[in-house]
Amino acid sequence: MRNSFLAGLAFLFFFIGCKQDTTVTPDPPNPGPQPGYGYDSTKLTPYALTAPAFFPPIQIPGDNKPYVERIQLGRRLYYDPILSNDGRSCSQCHIQGRGFTSDHISAEGLTVMPHVNLAWNDHWLWNGGYSGPMEDKIMLFEVHDFFQADITKINADTTYRRLFKQTYGVDQITFKEITYALSQFIRTMISQNSRFYQSVTGKIRLTQDEEAGRALYFNERGDCFHCHGAPLLSDNDFHNNGLDSDFSNPTNRGRYNVTGNPQDMGRFRTANLHNVALRRHFMHDGRFKTLEEVVNFYNDPPKPSSTLDPVMKLNDKEQLGLGLSPLEKYQLVQFLKTFTDTTYLNNPAFSKPN
Ligand code: HEC
Ligand code: HEC
Repeated sequence: MRNSFLAGLAFLFFFIGCKQDTTVTPDPPNPGPQPGYGYDSTKLTPYALTAPAFFPPIQIPGDNKPYVERIQLGRRLYYDPILSNDGRSCSQCHIQGRGFTSDHISAEGLTVMPHVNLAWNDHWLWNGGYSGPMEDKIMLFEVHDFFQADITKINADTTYRRLFKQTYGVDQITFKEITYALSQFIRTMISQNSRFYQSVTGKIRLTQDEEAGRALYFNERGDCFHCHGAPLLSDNDFHNNGLDSDFSNPTNRGRYNVTGNPQDMGRFRTANLHNVALRRHFMHDGRFKTLEEVVNFYNDPPKPSSTLDPVMKLNDKEQLGLGLSPLEKYQLVQFLKTFTDTTYLNNPAFSKPN
């Protein structure tokens, strides 16, 4: 306990000390043909993904380095109903003003996951149904299986034929180029200017209540940082945070549905909390409607089960649950609201192209 607390503190200091931006260097000016495409990418404009220095490095597959033209193509696809056969586009459920999520609940009873800071992700969906680089699995699932995109229809579109030729050098568009272009766009969607991040880099000071909430979030009393640690606000790992004891409803089985391992029962991917205040329902099934309900849930004893995460049982007190006062609960909610990034929500680079 104490060690992790100190580690948390050390991390925060490290965090506060860094102000410079890191950039992921684009390809050198003349990288030669791109692997997999035999295409001269020197005609394209290299793009440098930028993130604050305190973020971990971004891993980008070698054959899909960012270029402005490919990002623009991905953006166009994201907003274009041509990908589906029923008028839907990605942006219908992933809405920018809502942090690229929405109130939709899927047929499996799952809430929409936000598109933000996914460049650092390597597990996908609430249950981690897919793992690995964005291009290969999750995008293919979204476009091929979920949307069942009609590749003939897309090839019949002269604008897309031209754009894919120009950006990936192909005469025939395949699922590969579509998933590659979408991934390029989604990787650029980086939230780095929320009030929380601004306070970390010393640009602003949090209010007294927000500051008290921040302390709770990062100390052993509130204990949120164990799973929703900074800077990404999710450890991208799977935990049973004590929502259920009864797993008869398949929606609540989480990772068990992927692995069949009883030790994964009720474990879900830790949600990242960027723009969390904009959500109108919370958790994989949307069972809570407000941040106050979420904080009350964490404050109450977790539902017991054999897979309950050990962190949920750590407490200085005899009984489980956090034992926060009404004021402390209020302060924690105020702090969660500092994860809202209005720059991100209004960034014209992420909006529907003309
Ligand atoms: C009808 C609503 C809807 C549409 C349209 C939609 N999505 Fe989603 N999206 C969801 C839901 C619901 C989830 C979470 C599902 C789950 O966990 O099983 C999700 C999850 C995702 C994830 C996983 C994010 C993560 O953190 O793991 C990605 C990536 C994604 N969607 C991309 C897309 C793309 C690309 C498109 C367009 C091709 C698209 N979505 C269209 C509802 C939608
Ligand atoms: C043991 C790891 C763990 C700890 C500790 C933890 N969380 Fe979570 N949190 C999760 C997981 C896993 C989910 C997704 C659970 C699900 O949907 O089934 C989640 C979901 C959430 C959500 C919902 C987000 C959304 O998009 O629906 C919020 C808000 C949240 N946590 C806030 C907190 C706060 C505040 C604390 C501290 C009081 C905290 N968490 C402590 C693991 C944890």
